Amino acid sequence: MNSYKIAVLPGDGIGPEVMEEAIKVLDRVSKKYKMEFDYNYADVGGVAYDKHGTAMPAKTLKTCEDSDAILFGSVGGPKWENLPREKSIERVALLNLRKHFDFFANLRPAVVYKELRKISPLREDIVKNGFDILIVRELTSDVYFGKKISKDNFASDEMIYRKHEVERIAKVAFEMAMKRKNKVTCVDKSNVLASSIFFRKIVTETAKKYPKITLDYLYIDNAAAKIIKKPYELDVVVTTNMFGDILSDEAAAASGSIGMLASASLNEKGFGMYEPGGGSAPHLTGKNKANPIAQILSAAMMLKHSFGMEKAANEIEKAIRQVLAEKKRTYDLMEEGAKEVGTKEMGSLIAEKIK
Ligand code: IPM
Ligand code: MN
Repeated sequence: MNSYKIAVLPGDGIGPEVMEEAIKVLDRVSKKYKMEFDYNYADVGGVAYDKHGTAMPAKTLKTCEDSDAILFGSVGGPKWENLPREKSIERVALLNLRKHFDFFANLRPAVVYKELRKISPLREDIVKNGFDILIVRELTSDVYFGKKISKDNFASDEMIYRKHEVERIAKVAFEMAMKRKNKVTCVDKSNVLASSIFFRKIVTETAKKYPKITLDYLYIDNAAAKIIKKPYELDVVVTTNMFGDILSDEAAAASGSIGMLASASLNEKGFGMYEPGGGSAPHLTGKNKANPIAQILSAAMMLKHSFGMEKAANEIEKAIRQVLAEKKRTYDLMEEGAKEVGTKEMGSLIAEKIK
C-alpha cells in the first residue's frame, strides 16, 4: 500500500480538538483509497513553549523535515500573550516555520457555499449567486520579514519586496487562474508605497508569459470594499503578505464564518503545510464547540496539493456540503431550522459520508 508521512502539529486552544476530527476524516479516506497515512505528532506553540521552552522545538522541525506534508492546528493564547517579541508564540512557531521551509505561496479560498448563503453577513442579493475567491498571499516577505527597529522614541518595520519574490508568487497565481477563470486581480497600495509599485510592476511583467490571463488591479482599500459589495467579481487575487492577511480574514468572514477558512502554504518544491486560518479560539477551547471544518478542509487541501489525491479532496468537500445541507451545524453556522452539533459530532457526520 502506498504511504504518506504526515507531521501532525495540533498546537494550542481548539487546535487539538479540530485536528482529531480531521484525522477521523483522513482515516476514512485512507481506507477507501487504500492509502496509508503515517501520522507523526509533534509539539508546537504554547504547549511546546511550556514543555521545552520554545514554541518550535528542534525535534518538531525535524519531524516536519522528515514528512511528506505538515498538518498544522493553531497556536497561541492568552497564557502566552505577554512574551517578548523574540519568544512570541506566533512568531517562533508560525513565522519561523514559514521561513524555514520557504512557504512563500499561501492559498486561501473564500467560498460561499450555497448551503450557507443564509449565514453570510452580506445581503442576500449580494450572495445569491455565491462567490468563490482564491486569495494567493505572498507569505515569506513584506513587512513581516523586513528589518525591524525598536528604539525609545520610534519603531519601524521595513516593507520590502524583491524581484524573485514577486515573480514566483505571480506565477503561482497565474497557474491557479489557468485552472479556474483565467482572471487575476493584483491587490496592492501602489498609489502610495514603493514596494507596492514594484509588486504591481513585476506582476504585470510576469503576466506577459501568460497571454490567456486577464490581469486587473485594485488598491487594497478598494479591494476590501469590493469584498463586501461585489465579491462575485473577484476570482484569483494575488497580493502581498500583509494585505493578504487582512483580506483573507475579511473574505472568510464574508463567506459566513472564519471557521470555514482553510489554507495551504507551499514552497518551490511543492512541499506544503496546511492549516485553518481562524486561530486558536481560546474562548471555545475544551467545549466541544469549535467548528472543525476549516481543519478538515485544510486536510483536503493537503490531499490535493501534496498527495495528488484530488478525487478524495473533492469527496471530502462534497461530504461537508451534504452535512451542511442536512442542516447539521456547529454554533457558528447556525440558522433557523438547523440543529446544533458539537465538534466531534460534526467530524463524525462528515467522516461517515466517506464510504
Ligand atoms: C495568519 C495569522 C498569522 C499571520 C499570525 C498569527 C502571525 O494571522 O496566518 O493569517 O499574520 O500571518
Ligand atoms: Mn491572519
